[in-house]
Amino acid sequence: MEIKKIICIGAGYVGGPTMAVIADRCPEIGVTVVDINPERIAQWNSDKLPIYEPGLEEIVLRCRGRNLFFKTASPELIAEADMVFVSVNTPTKTFGEGEGRAADLQYLEKSARFIRPHLKPGAIVVEKSTVPVKTAEAISTILHFESQGPRHPVLSNPEFLAEGTAIRDLEEPDRVLIGCEQTPEGQLAAQALADVYAHWVPRERILLTNVWSSELSKLAANAMLAQRISSINSISALCEATRADVGEISRAVGLDNRIGPQFLEAGIGFGGSCFRKDLLNLSYICEHEGLLEVAAYWKGVVAMNDFQIERYTRKIVSSQFNTVAAKKIAIFGFAYKPGTDDTRDAPAIQVCQGLLREQARLAIHDPKALENARYDLKGVEGEVAFEPDPYKAAEGSHAIVLLTHWPEYRKLDFQRLYESMEKPSFFFDGRNWLDHAALHRIGFNVYPIGKESLSHI
Ligand SMILES: NC(=O)c1ccc[n+]([C@@H]2O[C@H](COP(=O)([O-])OP(=O)(O)OC[C@H]3O[C@@H](n4cnc5c(N)ncnc54)[C@H](O)[C@@H]3O)[C@@H](O)[C@H]2O)c1
Repeated sequence: MEIKKIICIGAGYVGGPTMAVIADRCPEIGVTVVDINPERIAQWNSDKLPIYEPGLEEIVLRCRGRNLFFKTASPELIAEADMVFVSVNTPTKTFGEGEGRAADLQYLEKSARFIRPHLKPGAIVVEKSTVPVKTAEAISTILHFESQGPRHPVLSNPEFLAEGTAIRDLEEPDRVLIGCEQTPEGQLAAQALADVYAHWVPRERILLTNVWSSELSKLAANAMLAQRISSINSISALCEATRADVGEISRAVGLDNRIGPQFLEAGIGFGGSCFRKDLLNLSYICEHEGLLEVAAYWKGVVAMNDFQIERYTRKIVSSQFNTVAAKKIAIFGFAYKPGTDDTRDAPAIQVCQGLLREQARLAIHDPKALENARYDLKGVEGEVAFEPDPYKAAEGSHAIVLLTHWPEYRKLDFQRLYESMEKPSFFFDGRNWLDHAALHRIGFNVYPIGKESLSHI
């Protein structure tokens, strides 16, 4: 089956970049991205895109109006599509059964109900959102309930992109995963989607599996990535207690071919919209299946992350003579990682809340995420300034707390920062990102993670 028109429901961090790359690499396919949020669509059509992602703007400018369109959803658009991607948010439930753990599938279900009456015969539905196992089956049931017409194949095609490197990840993916029903129609549909990706992805990297393996692979991949971070962070706490150096340990352990170096850097903890929610969801599914030990195992990864954030926040207070009340503290970096303006579940939120509870006065700097930071801390009690100039953020402060390893922070004039601060001046490097010996030489009292502090006190 030849795909000529694609529509994607959900113009977010996944839907926008993914469809932009498909449009770029498949000029003969018309790609339209729709969203229930008209403001988001307007932003996609403006000079200032709603999300920051390196390389995204160039692609959007190249394709927008040619074969890439951002519109509000309409039945006509659905009726024209050969393939409908569903890339809506699937956050953790905040109410009812499974509150705080299960995935909230209401946006996905609403999308399925919306497209159901308008799909053209044979149109393929692609589940792009990260979902619990068996969700494609539920979508299929909604689409076909009491319908006499032909069935629409529902494929699972989870997205593995990482924010900050989304365009590179989409252009050169390690793999593309397509799960399909093991029927001739399912396999034909999977082939049609594989043909779209094959415009730029080598065939051997396009994996075809059954639907449930595909859905579970995404949860398993995120759970294992997060687990590596929690593992090294647990070791960082032990390092601080024993004077071992977590950087040396990461290197020694990561050089083992069986382990490898990635995701082995200790830090303040993981964030982002996916790891916590997918771990909690995986744990919830296990519990639902009666696998209590498995559920507890994965929940432990989240608990370790929370421990790391709380532990380091306590350290920021305890190192400054056990009080930060009324002290100005500069926060360098609010996004959950560099290269994105996304602050969803960023450790910075928890750290800032903790410091504000201790009555610190905060000045937050981030190269891209200040707007989102403002939104995240809205209504939180205490004094917070959002400062686009890092030097102004640090002026008159007692401490700088680095929470996102933006490359630009390495280029700062630390002597100038030091001179503008209260003394003694503290530097808390929550990402082990800077040259600690150099900071110490300037006069800072330096507190990294999983390494000995370098103090003049
Ligand atoms: N962000 C990531 O790095 C990432 C990576 C891989 C997978 N995922 C998964 O992809 C999915 C989407 O994530 P995201 O980060 O793009 O979320 P997002 O919140 O940035 O975007 C989702 C968009 O869907 C829209 N939407 C919700 N319901 C809709 C409806 N009924 N009709 C039309 N639009 C609707 C929302 O308005 C929003 O703009 C999630 O399941 C997530 O777990 C995310």
